[in-house]
Amino acid sequence: MSGHGTPLPMTSSPCGPLVGKAQVPGDKSISHRALILGALSVGETRITGLLEGEDVLDTAKAMRAFGAEVIDHGGGAWSVHGVGVGGFAEPGKVIDCGNSGTGVRLIMGAMATSPITATFTGDASLNKRPMARVTDPLALFGAQAVGRSGGRLPMTIVGAADPLPVRYTVPVPSAQVKSAVLLAGLNAPGQTVVIEKEATRDHTERMLTGFGAELTVEDTDEGRVITLTGQPELAPQVIAVPRDPSSAAFPVCAALIVPGSDVLVPGIGLNPTRAGLFTTLREMGADLTYENPREEGGEPVADLRARYSPDMSGIEVPPARAASMIDEYPVLSVVAAHARGTTMMRGVKELRVKESDRIDAMATGLRACGVVVDEGEDWWSVTASGPGAVPGGATCKSHLDHRIAMSFLVLGMAAQAPVTVDDGSPIATSFPIFESLMGTLGANISRGSA
Ligand code: S3P
Repeated sequence: MSGHGTPLPMTSSPCGPLVGKAQVPGDKSISHRALILGALSVGETRITGLLEGEDVLDTAKAMRAFGAEVIDHGGGAWSVHGVGVGGFAEPGKVIDCGNSGTGVRLIMGAMATSPITATFTGDASLNKRPMARVTDPLALFGAQAVGRSGGRLPMTIVGAADPLPVRYTVPVPSAQVKSAVLLAGLNAPGQTVVIEKEATRDHTERMLTGFGAELTVEDTDEGRVITLTGQPELAPQVIAVPRDPSSAAFPVCAALIVPGSDVLVPGIGLNPTRAGLFTTLREMGADLTYENPREEGGEPVADLRARYSPDMSGIEVPPARAASMIDEYPVLSVVAAHARGTTMMRGVKELRVKESDRIDAMATGLRACGVVVDEGEDWWSVTASGPGAVPGGATCKSHLDHRIAMSFLVLGMAAQAPVTVDDGSPIATSFPIFESLMGTLGANISRGSA
């Protein structure tokens, strides 16, 4: 398991063109939600295309601990026999969410309005991350939380026996916080209202509606106002999980910077609350096209085609777009290093509280590879070395962060000298087939140091 065993150094050496089809795994955000809402419905939810990465497998285990029957039928097909809203049983042991902030925060929300107590923990990365952003609104429902200093895991949540509905304005742009409040609101009587000033990924809202909850969304001067009517009976669903745009980002960005590449990434979820990276890349001049646009499982989907793009220029990424590409800034910074001019990324303070401080992790590794990076508390900029002109040749730390590890491996594919990451094991949390899939396209990734 990532972060629990011996570190796995991985080295990516400069490679020839990346060519072919990249079938990336299922969407992580949607996979977590499918398991959790399946567990809160009455009857059997069937899921295909589930991401079988460690983060989601930890959520599957957690749903079993709360009393749902979760069955792996093989090949991404799963079923969940739910216990119904308010039907969670008290787990007999500590819930270990591994590396997953989404898993722990959504599950805390889902159990916080039931009269049960649960203790949560995670790996060294997750146990450093802030949980007060979730436990503060859960306290308004009547739940209590006791954790380590700074609101950190391990943490015990005592669910509210008599929950009250809540009206809550989310203070940071976070789909995890929004979703935790909505999931808690499911077992509160009356209407729970969540207001977000900036729109964040809306998979929870879409899926709650799909499961039969009464939910409305209004755009007002206050922001996006989401109103959920509590204590519905959720009806089980058949869910086809689209492929993850955040995972697609890696083969797409690699193809843009490795000369001669032409990669097709089929069936990618292109929900507008997730697609900011692709818009940004196109504005930079990337040869990136959407083919065969369609709708699958209530989400817009298309095939992405990315070709080598030697004429990309740095841009100022609009801060209003940050939430729709929050997980993609690390790999964007790698593309920016291979463009021309400076790419400026503002309004991205949230990057400092992800699986790692992603601004610090990328800035340190990029500088070690010869790239010019500047940073402040909520912004950073990358000044391009130019296509093919990134020196590379360094060992970069992944800080238990899958996206940092994959970003540096992509950097190595187009650098002048190999790039090593000190530990590639976290990649298994979200993209367990990354190494083999990139190898099939033509990447040169080996285990060990250069
Ligand atoms: C996620 C929301 C984002 C994102 C994370 C997945 C989700 O976090 O970074 O990888 O599935 O809701 P925040 O909501 O905290 O920004």
